[in-house]
Order: sequence, then structure tokens, then C-alpha cells
Amino acid sequence: MVKKKACVFISGSGTNLKALIKSSREYNFPININYIVSNTNKAKGIKFAKLYKIPFRVLNLNHIITLESFLNDLQKRNISIICLAGYMKILNKQFISKFNKKIINIHPSLLPKYKGLNTFKRTLKDKEQLTGCTVHYVNNKLDSGMTILKKKVYIQPNDNEKTLKAKVQAKEYRAYSESVFNIFR
Ligand code: GRF
Repeated sequence: MVKKKACVFISGSGTNLKALIKSSREYNFPININYIVSNTNKAKGIKFAKLYKIPFRVLNLNHIITLESFLNDLQKRNISIICLAGYMKILNKQFISKFNKKIINIHPSLLPKYKGLNTFKRTLKDKEQLTGCTVHYVNNKLDSGMTILKKKVYIQPNDNEKTLKAKVQAKEYRAYSESVFNIFR
């Protein structure tokens, strides 16, 4: 099986990146993680790029000159899909339209609820009983593109931000890999 080449964008701890790398090592997984991009050199997830010997680049996509050369870079590497995994910048509109291939994101809520930041805090404050994660296509609006897959997490009365985050992220790792399967099925 010829795997598609994927680029993962991160800003933080990179645990979703790690889960995707692990899935991509399975023979029937449709993508390989060939490139990793971080908007900051402080992202802890860069360690996974080093550990698994995957090329990475620290980049600020808001700089227009960089954008053109970066699009070339992606094209040269034959990247077919970008997976945002905890990427904390809003993608430049021009970049989305010029890349013209699949871009997907994972968000820690059942969208369209709780777009944006601090999802666990807001979910608990509203005394929700159900939350989860959503994998979706990326468009010009924050956390708004078409849904690919959602997974639910039931909130227990004794849950706090830390326990909820752990439960949702455990679901995220499976949701992201399943979504990639669904896309290339
Ligand atoms: C995840 O919870 C994801 O849903 C959100 O940012 C977090 C990233 O975590 N977009 P990690 O960097 O993958 O550990």
C-alpha cells in the first residue's frame, strides 16, 4: 500500500502527534507522518520529531514571504494532508486556499459547542454531563469546518479540568486515527 504523506502542525505537548505517528507505523494506516511544523521552538512535541527522526520546521505562517516558500516546501515533499494537532494559530486564509488539499483539526469538545480555548473549564462551569472531541475539516472560521468524526465522554460529578482533559484526550488519539482512516477509505 502506498501511503499518503502527511504534515502535522503542533504548538504544544504533541500527544496527538505521537498517537498519529504510532498509528502511521501500522502497515494498513493510510498516511505516513513525513513532516512536522511548529509555530514555536518551545513546543514540547518537537521531541517526537527528533525521537522518530521526522523532519520538522519551526515556522510563523503569518509572514507572507514564508507562506509562499512554505507552500513550495509542502509541494516538494508531496504532502497530501495537513493534520492540526494542538496548533494554536489560526491558519492564514490564503494558505488554506493555496494549499488546496485536505487540512483537518482536532478539537476537545463536541462542536459546535465550546469553540476556541479553555473548553474543559467552560464545559465544567456549565455543568454539562456530556462532552467529547471532534475531528473536522479546516475552513476560514475557527473550529467550524465540516465534521469528520465525534467521540463522546460522559462527565462525572467529581471530574475536574485535569481528569476531564485526560479522558477527552484518550478519546482524541483514537478519533484522530479513525478519522484519517475514514478520509482515505
Ligand atoms: C488537544 O486537546 C486538541 O484537541 C487541542 O489541543 C490539544 C493538543 O494536545 N486542539 P497535544 O499537543 O496533542 O498533547
